Amino acid sequence: MNLILLGAPGAGKGTLAAYLIEKMGVPSVSTGNILREAIKNDTPLGREAKQFMDKGQLVPDEVVIGMLKDRVAQADCAKGFILDGFPRTIPQAEALDTIASIDLALSLEVPDGVIEGRMTGRRVCLTCGATYHIKNMPPKMEDVCDKCGDKLVVRKDDAIEVVRDRLATFHKQTEPLKDYYGKQGKLKSIDGTQGIHETERLAVEALGL
Ligand code: AP5
Repeated sequence: MNLILLGAPGAGKGTLAAYLIEKMGVPSVSTGNILREAIKNDTPLGREAKQFMDKGQLVPDEVVIGMLKDRVAQADCAKGFILDGFPRTIPQAEALDTIASIDLALSLEVPDGVIEGRMTGRRVCLTCGATYHIKNMPPKMEDVCDKCGDKLVVRKDDAIEVVRDRLATFHKQTEPLKDYYGKQGKLKSIDGTQGIHETERLAVEALGL
């Protein structure tokens, strides 16, 4: 299955994707993680993306579309993939239609008020991409990644003023994708305000896994 996870910043797409990788046996492709890796390695792509990401704006379509195309062409995506953070605009969705056939877009519905609380507690591992929350999903040792042992950090774009800009960008540029996939009969929505395990249960039910 080729699945898209839609949802606001902090809606829980990455957290759910990490669970679905095991359940579905396909990789998750996070454009945000690919871009953060490029920033960490100080590549030309990373330097370009950083200017946009630090301000809560989207990286230009032509940059992320090329990046996504290369990633899903890799062998591990042959049996399917989970897209986390792509597409984010109508032109990205139109480009995706020429790259792969999408089975379903699953939207995690979480109001802006809940998002702000999640972002302030989020900690991430920039080495392996794992995500934690100081209350909802704490690591075993404070600020240390359970998976690779590296130090956990607060994402620069999780500062509250940047989160508000990211939410505004989401409502303007990404939310119209619900209509886009709804019209194709490929949209399912679940309540993303429940706890992590309940959200996983709702997703499994919606996906018929
Ligand atoms: P990206 O990394 O994709 O960020 P995002 O979409 O804004 O989503 P987040 O990673 O912030 O949140 P999430 O929904 O994955 O939530 P999470 O699971 O971590 O993009 C970052 C930037 O890169 C963009 O702003 C843009 O500049 C650029 N970019 C990326 N893709 C692009 C594209 N296609 N086009 C252009 N630009 C692009 O959960 C959040 C927190 O809540 C965690 O701490 C978690 O533990 C906790 N949590 C999760 N689920 C629950 C739950 N059910 N209950 C309680 N707590 C929960």
